Amino acid sequence: MADLPLPTPAQASITRQVRDQYERFPYPSKDCDLQPFITGQRAEVGFPRQYYHLLWPHQGKRDDLDILVAGCGTSQAARYAAAHPHARITGIDLSATSLAHCQSLCQQYQINNISLQQMSLLDLPELNRQFDYIVCTGVIHHMASPGAGLDALRQVLRPGGSMYLMVYARYGRDAIYLLQRLLRELDLRAKQLDDNDIAVLLELLDRLPPTHPLHFRRDQFHDIGKTAELIDYLLHVQDQPFTIKPFYELLQQHEFSVQHLINRAHYLHDALPVSLRQTVLNSFDEARQLAIGELLRAGIDKHEVFCVRSDRAVEDWRISLTDANADDHILERSPALHTELIREDQGTVLRAVSGSHQFADLQFSLSPEQAQVLNCINGQRSLHAIHTYLQQQQRTISREQLHAVCQWLLERDLIFLRGAQSGTG
Ligand SMILES: C[S@@+](CC[C@H](N)C(=O)[O-])C[C@H]1O[C@@H](n2cnc3c(N)ncnc32)[C@H](O)[C@@H]1O
Repeated sequence: MADLPLPTPAQASITRQVRDQYERFPYPSKDCDLQPFITGQRAEVGFPRQYYHLLWPHQGKRDDLDILVAGCGTSQAARYAAAHPHARITGIDLSATSLAHCQSLCQQYQINNISLQQMSLLDLPELNRQFDYIVCTGVIHHMASPGAGLDALRQVLRPGGSMYLMVYARYGRDAIYLLQRLLRELDLRAKQLDDNDIAVLLELLDRLPPTHPLHFRRDQFHDIGKTAELIDYLLHVQDQPFTIKPFYELLQQHEFSVQHLINRAHYLHDALPVSLRQTVLNSFDEARQLAIGELLRAGIDKHEVFCVRSDRAVEDWRISLTDANADDHILERSPALHTELIREDQGTVLRAVSGSHQFADLQFSLSPEQAQVLNCINGQRSLHAIHTYLQQQQRTISREQLHAVCQWLLERDLIFLRGAQSGTG
């Protein structure tokens, strides 16, 4: 493997300060019940167990993956190990306190398919091994150089592997950044805090005037009252959020391709006047469309993607309705999809919601045609089979209409595609 450049003194100093913070305030602070992860009752966005076919759309399911949880905190690697008993989990983190917590959690539940190591992301290439899947949640925006973090992650990702990456998004965290600036003006630093200061900080939050945007985002930042989370939100030594376009550009610069944007519906521009929406759809590239959706929504607090090394063959990881063999693709319901019949003015309609969406308005009352198509999607039928099935049921829908409905469902994260050869394993 090629050597990565050594961290500069400024980078090394940030790494030290971030490590000190998480040694003192390990994150997340809450106790984690692993039992529902062991039994499969609970899952997380990013678990390959659930999202295998998004990551490897043309392969059968495989359990024996090498998974790296980079910046695993107090419990994330344990949750992955609990949910993927046939996988080999490696968790790394700067904070020995967090790793010790993770270790005792694994002992408590007799979880053995895990190894934990205190190290920086930047030193990952020293492991001299590679992984099928990498999870990196809420870490690279805490690095002096997120790009250097990506380079290190890329070195340890197998050529055919995928990575789940989450970074903070700027606009949905506006309340947090205003508060960070306020605390800087007040000369408060995490390093010097004692219990009394924490109590004062909590009082400050309680006394915020009603115009403060934190009041509108209380659900998003519901855990801000806990000490470690409070420090993480308000007094982090390094917190560099992204807007979607620079995030995509950074990935590209560091030789990653976006395989799948998670919660794509957060970036929709349905709210634009029709004439503007047409311009956006017809004239702008994808990143610009997403940037417009992000500005319109104004509440996105994180960007989550599955990404791949840009040298992974496109036909291995991309699957879409524009493929020449799209009619053979199989349609799956999203693991987070919930549907219910509800009464509306025009009669009973099927409403579809994704459990991973953060915004209450993203509930879709389906047209009869959309509902018919969704009802045929069972993880077995191809697009062609759905077309034939609907015709047998005397439902006339053209191939073009079927494609348009499926595209609409895909853009709202209600379904996904997998290849005809992928099987369920
Ligand atoms: C916000 S916490 C997220 C923890 C975990 N990923 C989760 O989602 O629960 C960030 C974690 O990244 C770790 N971290 C930050 N910078 C790191 C680096 N350069 N190398 C390794 N770990 C790092 C911190 O120690 C901390 O545990």
